[in-house]
Amino acid sequence: MNPAPPVNPADKGAAAGQGPQGAGAEPGAIPAPSAASPGIAWYDKLANKDIEEEGTFWMPKSVNAAADDSDLMFYAVLALSTFFFIAIAVATIYFVWKYRHRPGHKAEPSAAHNDAMEITWTVIPTIIVVFLFWYGWRSYVHVVTPPNKAVEINVLAWRWNWQFTHANGVTDSDLHVPSNTPVRLVMTSKDVLHAFYAPAMRVKQDVVPRRYTYAWFYATKPGTYRLTCAEYCGTSHAQMACLQEDPKTKACLRRAVVVVHAPGDYERYLADKEAESQNLPPAELGKKLYEKKGCNACHTVDGTPRVGPSFAHDFGTMVPMSDGSKVLMDESYIRESLMSPQAKSRPGYPPSMPSFEGQLKEKEIEGIIAYIKSLK
Ligand code: CUA
Repeated sequence: MNPAPPVNPADKGAAAGQGPQGAGAEPGAIPAPSAASPGIAWYDKLANKDIEEEGTFWMPKSVNAAADDSDLMFYAVLALSTFFFIAIAVATIYFVWKYRHRPGHKAEPSAAHNDAMEITWTVIPTIIVVFLFWYGWRSYVHVVTPPNKAVEINVLAWRWNWQFTHANGVTDSDLHVPSNTPVRLVMTSKDVLHAFYAPAMRVKQDVVPRRYTYAWFYATKPGTYRLTCAEYCGTSHAQMACLQEDPKTKACLRRAVVVVHAPGDYERYLADKEAESQNLPPAELGKKLYEKKGCNACHTVDGTPRVGPSFAHDFGTMVPMSDGSKVLMDESYIRESLMSPQAKSRPGYPPSMPSFEGQLKEKEIEGIIAYIKSLK
């Protein structure tokens, strides 16, 4: 039927770094600030695309098949509320006008009882409320019960980043998911309350330290969708998680997103992403981690202090500590700061950095050290 069959995935892979949806020019892509753009992987190009949500005045279009009922509920409650608001307001205004005080008119006694009216205004609201409850309960149960066969992705939140860990161990700050497959999120936080919120998926769920919460969705349309934190969690809450910053204005150019892949591309993402982390020179791996692990939320690379000290210029020098002593900033110092950030604290910075113990591979620790060294 289709005169131009879709390009098969193998061909797309061959077209160096070409995103499957971006066939040709990518109008939505944000220009990367550095000369590193030719090296951007195809899946990161997808993540860099503009948000592709369409929708009504009220909300973006749902791309989660599990949430269609909740949309119907929203519009039903909205329509009912609007109808009764207008009906009651009009009736009130009319009666105020009709029974206003006029010379020559005496106030009549109020009606005491009317069976027909009592029954009407009891039965109709009861039917509406029972319908709303039944429908709401049914869709609620559906929304909180993932099917047995779901792709499971671990979510770890901290100030201020998301880390999504896939079945093969690949981690990323963007959430990459397959389309037309149920996806279940198992979520926890390292520090404070956050909330995972993907409006197009109709998923908003608190992410709580020291316990797990869950969410699931069934994305129907490949694309790039918004992901935000919906629980106030501190300075950079609104930018959680900023993955690309304008070096001059410090404005956030791109935040973490949800990327829904076309069939077959999720598997390709897992394989390519895994290969990528094996093959980078240490300092480049470190630079990538600096953005992807959220270091950039607190540490600059141009020497200016932020929530934490800058990565630049200090390597190999004696840095002052809170207790008045001075410590040489070397490889061991950086490793210790990643694993036990509070062991050596520097004056003027809050001791709020979370530990990365168990979350960085040996190679990644070395990458971050190499990156900081390259900035001295
Ligand atoms: Cu994390 Cu707000």
